[in-house]
Amino acid sequence: MADILIVDDDKMLCSMLVRRLESVDHAVTCAYTLTDGIHVAQEADFDVVFLDVKLPDGNGLDSLSQFASLPSTPEIIIMTGAGDSSGAEKAIKSGAWSYLEKPHVIRDLLLPLTRALEYRKEKQTTSVIKVALKRDKIIGEGPAITACLDKLANAATGDASVLITGETGTGKEVFARALHENSPRAEKPFVIIDCASLPETLIESTLFGHARGAFTGAEKAREGLIQLANGGTLFLDEVGELPLDVQKKFLRVIQEGRYRPVGSTTEYYSDFRVVTATNRDLDKMVEAGMFRADLLFRLRSFHICLPPLRMRIEDIPVLARHTVSCLCDRLQIEQKVLTSEFIEHLQTHPWPGNVRELQQLLEEVCARAYRHHTLFSYHLPDHIRIDQAQRKLQNRPEGYEKAKTLRKELNRPLPWKEYKAMMEIEYLTHLMTYTAENIQEACEISGISRARVYQLLNKIEYKTTQDRLKK
Ligand SMILES: Nc1ncnc2c1ncn2[C@@H]1O[C@H](COP(=O)(O)OP(=O)(O)OP(=O)(O)O)[C@@H](O)[C@H]1O
Ligand SMILES: [Mg+2]
Repeated sequence: MADILIVDDDKMLCSMLVRRLESVDHAVTCAYTLTDGIHVAQEADFDVVFLDVKLPDGNGLDSLSQFASLPSTPEIIIMTGAGDSSGAEKAIKSGAWSYLEKPHVIRDLLLPLTRALEYRKEKQTTSVIKVALKRDKIIGEGPAITACLDKLANAATGDASVLITGETGTGKEVFARALHENSPRAEKPFVIIDCASLPETLIESTLFGHARGAFTGAEKAREGLIQLANGGTLFLDEVGELPLDVQKKFLRVIQEGRYRPVGSTTEYYSDFRVVTATNRDLDKMVEAGMFRADLLFRLRSFHICLPPLRMRIEDIPVLARHTVSCLCDRLQIEQKVLTSEFIEHLQTHPWPGNVRELQQLLEEVCARAYRHHTLFSYHLPDHIRIDQAQRKLQNRPEGYEKAKTLRKELNRPLPWKEYKAMMEIEYLTHLMTYTAENIQEACEISGISRARVYQLLNKIEYKTTQDRLKK
C-alpha cells in the first residue's frame, strides 16, 4: 500500500482517481489547489504525488521541485492536458517520474504508478546503505537538510552532473565542495568559475583558454579552467549568467569532452565532472529563450534544491551555537552561552540572506557582547528586535489586539464567550510560535486532533509564516 497525494482542482476527476487507487489498496489524499497541496505534503509523507499542471493558484510544474525536495522525496507524476507536448517535456526535464494525459489518466495510471513504486522501493533499500558522508562544514540535522544530504550522498558516488539551486546564502558552494570531496575525484582539482563576476568577453577564454594572439593582449597562449579541471570537478557558479553562445560551446564539451581554445584550431580533451549552481529559475529562463533547454537537461541529471533557512528553523540552534563557538575560538575568547530566548528570536527572523546572514549577524553580536559570557536577545541589533516586535504584532489576528484592549479597559471579568475566544487566540498563537508552526508537534502538545487544529487556526484566521512571506 502506498500513500498518494492528488493535487488537482477537478473534483470529479479526483474522486474517480480516489476510487481507482483505493480499489488497489492505496491510501489517497486530495488537494484542490497548489497551496493546499504543498501544505498537505509538508505535513505528511507521500510516496507518489499526482500533480496537475493548470491549478487555480499556479502552475504545477513550477512547484514540482518543491514537492520533490520534501523530506519524503515523493515521485511525481504529472497530469497534463491533451496534446500538451511542451508540458510533458518540461515535466520530464524537471525530474517528474512520468506524465499522463488527462483524458486517459484513469486508464493509464496503474503502470507508471507501479513502476514508480518499484523504483522507490529500490531507492529506499539502497539509501539504507548510507555512505559515510564527509560533511564537516554542513551543519543541520533537520529533515529538510537531511533530504538534501541524502541526495548529495547518492550523487557523489557517480559522475552525473549536479545542479544545486537555492536562495542566496543557503550553502550552494558548501554543497558543491562536499560533493567533490565525497566523490572518486576528491584527490583531483576542484575548480570554481563564477559566471556572474566575469565580464561576458572573458568567460569564454577563462573557460576554454586561448591561443597566442587570439585577441589584443593575448601575448601568450593560456590554458582554460576546463583543462585545469581535468580529472576533477568544474563548479560553474551562477550558471544562469552564462552567455548563450558560450552555453552552446559548453554543451559540446560536456557531451564530448572536446573543446577548442579561443583562436585555436586544435581540439583538446578534458575529463571533468560538472557541478552548477544558481539562484535563478532556469526553467523560466529557458521559456524566455535565455537559457538552452538541452544544456539545462544535461546539467540537471541530479538536482539538489537547498531549502531557505526560514524553512528549516529547527537547525538554527545548532547553526548558531556552532558559529558562535567558531567565532570565540577565532577571537581566542571564552565560549559564550546562548540563552533560549536569544535562540527563539533567531528562529522567528525570516533570514532573507539565509545562513550567510545568520553568520554575519552572530559575528556582529559577538563583537558587541565581547565581554559578556551569556548572549541575550538584548544583544541583537536594534533593527532585528524592532522588526520582530512589529511582525509579532502584525501576526496576531485582529481579534487579539481588540480583546486585549478590552480586557484592560474593563478591568472586570469578560463574558465567558468573549474570554474563551480571546484565550483561544492567545493559546493558538503561542502554540504556533512555540512549535515553529509544526502541526504534528502542536497536536502532541495540545492533545487536539490535527483536523481540529486546522479548524481552530482557520477560525482565528491565523496566518502562517509562509502565508505572510507570500504577501
Ligand atoms: N548547512 C550549512 N552549514 C553550515 N554553514 C553553512 C551551511 N549552509 C551555508 N553555510 C555557510 O553560509 C555561507 C554561505 O554559503 P554559500 O557561499 O555556500 O552559499 P551560496 O548558496 O553559494 O550563496 P550565494 O548564492 O550568495 O553564492 C558560508 O559561510 C557557508 O559556510
Ligand atoms: Mg555561491
